[in-house]
Amino acid sequence: MKTLIIYAHPETKGHCPLILKEMESLHKKEKIPYEVIDLYKIKYDPVLKASEHYTAGNRAVSGQNKIFQEKIRAADRLIFIHPVWWGSYPAVLKGFIDRVFTSGFAFNLKPLGFLGLAMPIKHLKGKKAAVLQTTGSPKIITATYLGNRFKKTLKHETFAFCGIKSRYFQIDKATQVTEKQVSRIKKEAKKAMGWLYS
Ligand SMILES: Cc1cc2nc3c(=O)[nH]c(=O)nc-3n(C[C@H](O)[C@H](O)[C@H](O)COP(=O)(O)O)c2cc1C
Repeated sequence: MKTLIIYAHPETKGHCPLILKEMESLHKKEKIPYEVIDLYKIKYDPVLKASEHYTAGNRAVSGQNKIFQEKIRAADRLIFIHPVWWGSYPAVLKGFIDRVFTSGFAFNLKPLGFLGLAMPIKHLKGKKAAVLQTTGSPKIITATYLGNRFKKTLKHETFAFCGIKSRYFQIDKATQVTEKQVSRIKKEAKKAMGWLYS
């Protein structure tokens, strides 16, 4: 079992750093090997280059992104940890997905031969991804009134498109790290572990 944690948060303090710490400690406790890609720490460049723009026929993949593709290919389990910013995930993670989850690696499109439609051939089947995300607003707003838009893009447009089964674990009202928030982080991290390794 190989696990890859993709982490997108710039600070050492706050909810996401504690989520990462908790997930690492649970993996160590369970003796499950894991690796972390800390996108801010490595100063990941999220800007897709013209030479990588595969819909225009350009197929370059940088050496660094090839290594990330290999790590994803080899991983059975993926864990994404990020705060919700502007109803979505941080730009550094968006760029990572743009540049790493490329056509040919994560999927291929098979033309259906009518109406210009195409079907994805999913290359990342069999993998599970847990997304641990934090939101400033309460769940009652994000899950009901706004229809939990935070999970729609990654879950449906990326993971399902490439064949990855995913589940979300949300820590809401993440405005201050209180004891209550810490125990919620531990609870969600445990739930994520249970789902990932069941
Ligand atoms: C640029 C930016 C945009 C944000 N946008 C949202 C948002 O759309 N919805 C929301 O609930 N919280 C939003 N927040 C609040 C963050 O989700 C919250 O600060 C974060 O989840 C707390 O986690 P942390 O302690 O790990 O930073 C935003 C914060 C920043 C800095």
